[in-house]
Amino acid sequence: MKRTLLKTGDGSYTLHISEWDEQYHSKHGAIAEALHVFIKEGLYHWVSKNPATTISIMEIGFGTGLNGFLTFLETEKDNLKVDYTGVEAYPLQIDEIQKMNYTSLLKATEEIFMQLHTSSWEEKINISENFNLTKQQKFFSEITAENTFDLIYFDAFGIRVQPELWTEEIFQKMYNALKGNGVLVTYAANGNARRAMQTVGFLVERIPGPPGKKEMLRGTKKPSTFSEAKA
Ligand SMILES: C[S@@+](CC[C@H](N)C(=O)[O-])C[C@H]1O[C@@H](n2cnc3c(N)ncnc32)[C@H](O)[C@@H]1O
Repeated sequence: MKRTLLKTGDGSYTLHISEWDEQYHSKHGAIAEALHVFIKEGLYHWVSKNPATTISIMEIGFGTGLNGFLTFLETEKDNLKVDYTGVEAYPLQIDEIQKMNYTSLLKATEEIFMQLHTSSWEEKINISENFNLTKQQKFFSEITAENTFDLIYFDAFGIRVQPELWTEEIFQKMYNALKGNGVLVTYAANGNARRAMQTVGFLVERIPGPPGKKEMLRGTKKPSTFSEAKA
C-alpha cells in the first residue's frame, strides 16, 4: 500500500495510506498524540503506580518508531531501565524514516532515532545503558508471550480499517502477555473495543484523549497473585 508524508496539527509528520484514508497517527498532532496516550497515560501512569527501576514494554505496531523514541528520551531523563519490544509485520523503508521530522522538533539526536530503525530484528539490542530494543517482525495474531510485559502500547490502525485487531481474540493475547497489574493503553475509545477488553478481563477506564479526541482507553490486568494484589 502506498504511503505518503502528511503534516499533522503540531507540525510533526505522519504517514497517510490513501487506499484506506488512514494515518499512522492523529491528524491533530502525531507527537502530541504519542506524548499524551503512550507517555503520559501509559508510561508515567505505570511509573506512578509501581516503584520499580525497570519496565518491560511491548508496542503493537512499531511503525515509525515514534513511541519507542519518545520512551527512550523520557526514560533516559528518569534513569529508568527499559526492555522495549516492538512488534511489526510491515517494517517501513529507511527512506521513509529519514523523511520524518521528529528529531528536529524534539531537539534530539538523529543517531538514536536511526539506530532504532537500523538495528537488527529478532534480537535484543542494547541502544544505551538503560534501553534495550527487540524488534519482532510478525503478525499480532502470532504473539504468544505470557506474563512478560508491564505495559502495552496498543497502536494498531483504527477499527474502521482493521476490525480484526480490536477483537477478544487479540485482546486475550494482550492480557496474557501482561504481568499482573500490567497496563494497556490505546488512543481508541470505541465501544466494541472497550467491551472486548472487558470481556477478556481488563479493568477498563475511559480517560481524556489526546488533542481532537474526547476519550481514550486504558486497561489494567487484574493481579494474579497475593503479592501482586498488594503492590
Ligand atoms: C497506526 S500504525 C502505528 C505505528 C507506530 N506505533 C508509529 O507510531 O508509527 C499501525 C502499525 O501496525 C502495523 N500492522 C498493521 N497490521 C498488522 C498486523 N496484523 N500485525 C503486525 N503489524 C501490523 C502497521 O504496519 C503499522 O506500522
